Order: sequence, then C-alpha cells, then structure tokens
Amino acid sequence: MPSAAYTLVHLTNGAYAVQSLAYGEKMHPGLGPAVEAETLHVGQLQIRARLAQHCGEFVVWDVGLGAAANAIAVLRATRELPNPVRLLSFDDTAAPLAFARQHADQLGYFHGYESHVEMLLRQRRTSFFDHGHSVDWEFHVGDFPALLSHARAKAAGILLPPPHAILFDAFSPRKNPAMWTLPLFANLFQLLDPQRPCNLTTYSRSTMLRVTLLLAGFFVGRGVATGLKEETTVAANAFELVEAPLDGNWLERARRSSSAEPLRDAVYRQAPLSSATWEQLQAHPQFRRS
Ligand SMILES: C[S@@+](CC[C@H](N)C(=O)[O-])C[C@H]1O[C@@H](n2cnc3c(N)ncnc32)[C@H](O)[C@@H]1O
Repeated sequence: MPSAAYTLVHLTNGAYAVQSLAYGEKMHPGLGPAVEAETLHVGQLQIRARLAQHCGEFVVWDVGLGAAANAIAVLRATRELPNPVRLLSFDDTAAPLAFARQHADQLGYFHGYESHVEMLLRQRRTSFFDHGHSVDWEFHVGDFPALLSHARAKAAGILLPPPHAILFDAFSPRKNPAMWTLPLFANLFQLLDPQRPCNLTTYSRSTMLRVTLLLAGFFVGRGVATGLKEETTVAANAFELVEAPLDGNWLERARRSSSAEPLRDAVYRQAPLSSATWEQLQAHPQFRRS
C-alpha cells in the first residue's frame, strides 16, 4: 500500500495518530499512539514485571506493526532491564511504518529508535544493544493468517519462536475480518508453548471476540478502559495471567447476545451463539474452576 494511503490526524488531546485511508480507521484513536500502547498493551501485559523475573530471552509478538507505536513502547519499557528481548513484528505492509517514520516529529514516540526503524524497513531485521540489554527485532511482512497456517503446518520452513506476550492490534472485525477469525486464533493458540506462559492484549471487548478466544483455548478476562473503549480484553494460556477473568454472569449475557458466534471465515457478520458453541463454552476450564 503506498504511503499516500495514510494521513496524520490530530486527536482532541493534542496527540497525532496515523489513519489508514483504505480501511477508514485510525491507529490508536483514543489516547494517541504512545499513551494507548502503554496503557492497553505494555501495562496490561505486565511486561516490565514479567521480564524482571524472567531468565533468558523474552519473546514478544507484535501483531499489526503498523506505525510501530506498540513495538517501540515495548522497547522503551524494557530498556533498563537486563534480559534480551526478541521482538517479532507482523504486518502485510511496511507502508504505515515508512509513513510514520517520515512524520516522526509530530508522532513523537520514535525518539532514540529512528536508526533501528530505518534498518528494520531496509533489511526486515535489526539487532542492537539498548541500555542494559540486547534486542533482536524482526519484521515478518505478509498475510498474518496465512503465515500462522504455514507455521502450524511447518510449511516453507517457517518456525516462529513461541511468544511470552502478544500485542494483537488489527483493524476492526467489521473492516478487517480476516484478522479476527476462529481459525486464526486457534492457530495462534496452537503455536504457543504450553510450558511458556503467554498473555495477549487487544482493544476489542466484543462478545464475539471473547468467545473466539475462549474457543481457541485461551483463558479470557476484562481489560482496562482506554480512550474510546470502556473495556478491553486480556487473554492467556495460563489462568494466573488473567487478572479479571470472565465469569458465569458474562457467559449468561453471551448466551443472550445477538452477536457472539465466532467468524469462521473472513466475512463479517453477526450471529447469536450456535448450540454447539454454547456447549463448548460451558465446558471451558475457565467456567468449571469453582
Ligand atoms: C491498527 S493498525 C496497527 C497499529 C500498530 N500496532 C501501531 O502500534 O502503530 C493494524 C495493522 O494491521 C495490519 N494488517 C491488516 N490486515 C493484515 C493481515 N492480513 N496480515 C498482516 N497484517 C495486517 C495493517 O496493515 C495495519 O498496519
């Protein structure tokens, strides 16, 4: 996608954000890139605390690299900690990053990382020392759902190191349904290492997304409010990493919702739970714990 497909928008709090004209959506529309990346992703993933207690390389998947606000927030938050960080960013285009780099002064969050971003844009990979630790940052350019299918099938030699944390930041299910299907999240869950606790954050709080994550195998909880969203979502393969798990009351509301059934393919639609999905939800370990 050419950089003419992006524009800068001035948010009411004074921050600038990148808007995709093709999708008609802003990246970080609520609080702006730096604050939203920190509140929604870095803080809720407890990256600092987890990294401080961690031995060895900490692997982060940044799904939807876009203008790199989330990726840079991870790097900035972890720079004083000694452990090596391996950051895998995914996007099907480098254009929003190239656009954002050209507008780094207004966006404000690139400071200190400009040369690394340029290297990432040129070579799709950069390794460097950032204060106390080493960083290995790679950019996988391509369709994320297809990449996960290939990685699961181990086709084309794709081997992705399983993550400790995932920042999931695609455009909305309505505009970008391919990034919110049950097959995608099922593949994602299957690529996790069951011995490696991993959490995931995303801005959506929709019942449909939460049911999708549960059916894929995740434990799922409520996340904090950010800007335009009164709630977000946190998921994990380890129950202890979900601070506010969805409970039986949520399950009952999901049962009555007119939009709860996961997308099975890349076509947006709304539908209530099928009886098969309702049975699967009731059997989920999250709702059988007490
Ligand atoms: C909301 S933006 C991400 C913003 C970004 N996380 C940031 O911090 O600036 C969503 C991103 O998902 C990417 N995307 C959409 N569909 C995709 C696909 N099928 N595969 C990979 N990336 C995709 C878009 O190109 C876009 O950059």
